[in-house]
Amino acid sequence: MEPDDLLRATGASRTFTERRVSDAEIHAILDDARFAPSGGNRQPWRVVSLRDPSIRSTVVDATRSVWDDYVAITEDGRVPFNVVDGEPPHDVQVGRPNPLIDGIERVPVVLAVAANLREIAAMDAGAERLPLAAGASIYPFCWSILLAASRRGLGGVLTTFVTRVEGSVAEVLGLPEHHALAALIFIGEPERRVSKLSRRPVSSFATIDRFDGSPLDDDHGSLLA
Ligand SMILES: Cc1cc2nc3c(=O)[nH]c(=O)nc-3n(C[C@H](O)[C@H](O)[C@H](O)COP(=O)(O)O)c2cc1C
Repeated sequence: MEPDDLLRATGASRTFTERRVSDAEIHAILDDARFAPSGGNRQPWRVVSLRDPSIRSTVVDATRSVWDDYVAITEDGRVPFNVVDGEPPHDVQVGRPNPLIDGIERVPVVLAVAANLREIAAMDAGAERLPLAAGASIYPFCWSILLAASRRGLGGVLTTFVTRVEGSVAEVLGLPEHHALAALIFIGEPERRVSKLSRRPVSSFATIDRFDGSPLDDDHGSLLA
């Protein structure tokens, strides 16, 4: 894949063909992803490839209730688990279908990614709003895993449902002390490839000098021009 395509066409894939992905391929993907940036270059990541079907099921089953809540809130027209809204889900129906959870045994690769909290400088941990900066030391790595997979003709999706049930899966995963689960990443050969991703244009989110400034157009002159 060309670098442009990699950035513009690495979409989320949740269903996979039966093509197996070897440990050597997973190793190669992680070998690329390890070049991701992290605060102070502390590389706080740990990765477990979940092979044992019973461990996979235990971990993924624990996220079913999170999925049920997610669907209920989405159907309400709200952003799931949003801290500004903060309203709990209403009208939760148990056992909503989810291709990843329901077909977990058929997913070629399931990676659990954790971050060593001792290695993270959480710059905005004391903020009165939701702290964000700590995640920036682990999620670029997660995204690099998906880019590295995409480059090899594979695909997948990063999911964070597991972070809401960390306590109930920590033991089965052997999660070390002072580590936080960041994501479950599912990888395989996508059943379908998305060629065009739906994303907002630059003009909708980029401005000059201030967030309420004029839009950053592609024909705007720079100060040095
Ligand atoms: C932080 C984060 C959390 C996500 N969590 C989930 C998840 O729990 N389950 C899921 O199916 N997809 C999850 N996704 C995937 C997004 O839904 C997906 O990237 C987004 O809808 C764009 O999809 P597209 O690239 O196919 O257009 C997550 C993505 C990110 C970046």
